[in-house]
Amino acid sequence: MSQAQPATASPETKEKDTIVVSGIQPSGTLHLGNYFGAIRQHISLHREHEAYFFIVNYHALTSLHDAEALAHYTMDVATTYLALGFDPEEAHLFIQSDVPEVTELAWIFYNLTPVSHLEKGVSYKDKIAQGLSPNAGLLNYPVLQAADILIYGGTLVPVGADQKQHIEMTRDTAGRFNHTFCDDDAPLFTLPEPLILDDVSVVPGLDGRKMSKSYGNTIGLFDEGKDLKKKVMSIVTDSTPLDEPKDPEADNVFALIKLFASDEKREEIAEAYRAGGYGYGHAKKELLGMIDSYFAEARERRRELKQRPDYVRDVLREGARNARAQAEPIMDRVREAVGIVSATR
Ligand code: TYM
Repeated sequence: MSQAQPATASPETKEKDTIVVSGIQPSGTLHLGNYFGAIRQHISLHREHEAYFFIVNYHALTSLHDAEALAHYTMDVATTYLALGFDPEEAHLFIQSDVPEVTELAWIFYNLTPVSHLEKGVSYKDKIAQGLSPNAGLLNYPVLQAADILIYGGTLVPVGADQKQHIEMTRDTAGRFNHTFCDDDAPLFTLPEPLILDDVSVVPGLDGRKMSKSYGNTIGLFDEGKDLKKKVMSIVTDSTPLDEPKDPEADNVFALIKLFASDEKREEIAEAYRAGGYGYGHAKKELLGMIDSYFAEARERRRELKQRPDYVRDVLREGARNARAQAEPIMDRVREAVGIVSATR
């Protein structure tokens, strides 16, 4: 795990054509899927570009109804970003609900969104299939996500593959708004692009399905000791005997090894799989060591940061202040375009 690099450009001097935005739900402990699918890209992009990363507590509320847990995970996500090398001098990290304009914009977007589109949402249908209550928040989840992205003028959205449809819905929403309320030559919203990296777009979990809190198949970023070992040892493999050749590309353990290993190491292990005499137990041991050392420094930093909740709060407060400064003028233009007048503003 590499730690914070020296600052390369201050937020004021960064080029403004690309605005990176992304959100993460504080609905549980962050896992390898969150990291490789999204957070790692957030950390690497935030030095180069203007960037807004938000902890989407309103989104988490669609499935988590436990006040203590929601509050706890909200601060935990922030601590985790800082531990992983997010530098608050470089970009903005904040809590979604600290920018109330987001829910205001979401309300405006609801009025442009066909319910039939929301009902076809892959993520919505998936969550219902898992037994979550089909509440209105869950149905409208992608509309709030569109507001999250568009209110900061986001142009690039680094996410995992499961979010592809939500970004498409965001683009549709921006287009519909522009078409309904703006002149053709003066659209208010830019259509954002997703950034989905092929090799990490779906990180598999212990059972080979997508790693996800709701499947209970995750490896937490900061799992360690016996707990980590137990999880790694429980990764599902086929029953090819130890001495027989194996196909690395068909194996869950190797899929995770690929995330951590250098090209050279990856090839070496793939070769061992193909040659035979290398068992899944060997591969699991290798993976265990990789996870443990990859996050060792961040784990330590996280321990330190846990002792400094006031610092984490300060970072979030400053992040929200800057995010609001970005959101307010956009929201003013939206209200004007729609005809929402105020007797007090
Ligand atoms: P969340 O918290 O469910 O996921 C956060 C990010 O982690 C990615 N991810 C994965 N990537 C690869 N493999 C996996 N197994 C895996 N599991 C999770 C997700 O794709 C996501 O990028 N809806 C968003 C939260 C959100 C948002 C936004 C994102 C709300 N507003 C605005 C971007 C822009 C979500 O899925 O959160």
